[in-house]
Amino acid sequence: MSLTHKAAASLVRHTARQQHLPVVRQTAALVRQQQQQQQRSYADSSTSSNVSHANFHSPFHRGKGDRPDTTVIPSFKKYRAGNEQGNKVFQYFMIGSLGGLSALGAKDTVQNFLVNMSASADVLAQAKVEIDLASIPIGKNVIVKWRGKPVFIRHRTEDEIKDAEDTEWQKLRDPQPDSDRVQKPEWLIMLGVCTHLGCVPIGEAGDFGGWFCPCHGSHYDISGRARKGPAPLNLEIPAYEFTGEEAVVIGT
Ligand code: FES
Repeated sequence: MSLTHKAAASLVRHTARQQHLPVVRQTAALVRQQQQQQQRSYADSSTSSNVSHANFHSPFHRGKGDRPDTTVIPSFKKYRAGNEQGNKVFQYFMIGSLGGLSALGAKDTVQNFLVNMSASADVLAQAKVEIDLASIPIGKNVIVKWRGKPVFIRHRTEDEIKDAEDTEWQKLRDPQPDSDRVQKPEWLIMLGVCTHLGCVPIGEAGDFGGWFCPCHGSHYDISGRARKGPAPLNLEIPAYEFTGEEAVVIGT
């Protein structure tokens, strides 16, 4: 019952007692009747609330009395499919779907990684360089840049070829016959990087008529083989291919 109703009823009763008026008495009876009806409606609503609460079964409710036991693993049996076979089919479907999605994601990740790591078009364009040999006279050196490194191209004379072939290569520190270092005897093509510490040797210099590295005094012969000084290996021969009588492509 609200405070307003209580105050109104009390006021009416007090007035009736004081003045003994029949109209006031009737009004007080009416107010009492309304109070009783209101109390009955409250009682009805609380009863229906208790009934609906009593019908609710929490999956955690295994404790004593009204207190739920939250340490109990709830049972969801009533949400399962009717038969065990149906459950397994659903599980296999979910595992297969998630596995397929994971495989697709992994494939995309690896593919993107490989695409990013592969050489771009401008890098691939620099991977090969074509040289016109007709412009290099006999007995002259030319240096070209390939993949950021110098490449020596020597158009050797007859005497230089003979000298390179007659050398006792078995006694050299990096034994290698001249025939293993050239595809055509008149063309010597090799990287211009000293095998000691990477300086660029000077052509037509040194004690063997080939190349000399001024950094620490290594001497190479006319076949690019290490003959004196600290260089441990011969100058490296890159991959190349003759594409014509007077054309070569370095970097095949
Ligand atoms: S780098 Fe050429 S001799 Fe040392």
